[in-house]
Amino acid sequence: MLVDGSIARSTVARVIPSRPFLKWAGAKTRLVAAIRATAPPQTRRLIEPFAGSGAVALNLGFERNLLADTNADLIEIYRELKRSGEQFIATCEKFFTPRHNTAKTYYALRTQFNASTDHRHKAALFVYLNRHGYNGLCRYNARGGYNVPFGRYDAPYFPRKEMENFRRLLARCTLRRADFRSILAAAGDGDFVYCDPPYVPASATANFTAYARGGFGSHDQANLLAACLAATRRGACVAISNHDTPETRRLYAEADEIISLSVARHISRNGRKRTRAKELLVVYRPSGPAGLSA
Ligand SMILES: C[S@@+](CC[C@H](N)C(=O)[O-])C[C@H]1O[C@@H](n2cnc3c(N)ncnc32)[C@H](O)[C@@H]1O
Repeated sequence: MLVDGSIARSTVARVIPSRPFLKWAGAKTRLVAAIRATAPPQTRRLIEPFAGSGAVALNLGFERNLLADTNADLIEIYRELKRSGEQFIATCEKFFTPRHNTAKTYYALRTQFNASTDHRHKAALFVYLNRHGYNGLCRYNARGGYNVPFGRYDAPYFPRKEMENFRRLLARCTLRRADFRSILAAAGDGDFVYCDPPYVPASATANFTAYARGGFGSHDQANLLAACLAATRRGACVAISNHDTPETRRLYAEADEIISLSVARHISRNGRKRTRAKELLVVYRPSGPAGLSA
């Protein structure tokens, strides 16, 4: 079934979603209403194999959540916030002062981050780097060193309220640093799995190095779909986001629902200039004997 995204967009417009505390490329804050609409009412657990900023789990409000991602720094921050709560928030807050908002201090702290083996200190520095670095990027060099340049913002915002809010979500979350294959292998009856993988390039000429460097190619896209279909045979319902391209139209041709969305994207650093991109949200309903469709 093909659904026009304008229906979903008009729903999105009426809801003000909660914002996650991390800036994250591809965060789905604006799409949570459309994603929520695809989740079966009988869902007992949300699984996000590509959790990123956690914007989806934060806004869907399920009692049980499994958040997973291959980014070790990201999962470690969530573990630290869940474990140490206010103490961790206060540690992060200390780095949000004018004294820390200079290129010299930023690069010194970035070096410290790359060398540190102290989990809490490293996690707090990641929150600092995320808000003081260029455009909220998260990028590593070939040796795994974080290498985002200084962002030159006037006064980076400390997301205290957002961290407190996210902490409440974490009390209902299991966290895993893992590849999507092992997470999907455990999905089954009662699970709603939302997959937000690194997208296929929007066009053949698109500059898509940010995620492609991590090696998420067409083989991974096909593996992801196969793992999702296996999960639906065990009774899970799965939704997947991706760019709307001839390649993804072919890949997801057998989906139970194909929702076409036009999504606003920031193209300038200050967020004032925007463009629109075409995305798909596809849904695969349970096909197994004990599925949610029952
Ligand atoms: C588009 S982002 C997800 C954004 C997220 N939905 C949000 O709202 O913030 C894709 C995420 O997939 C993660 N990732 C990349 N390759 C992965 C893999 N093989 N398995 C699991 N996660 C992966 C990245 O670290 C990144 O956080």
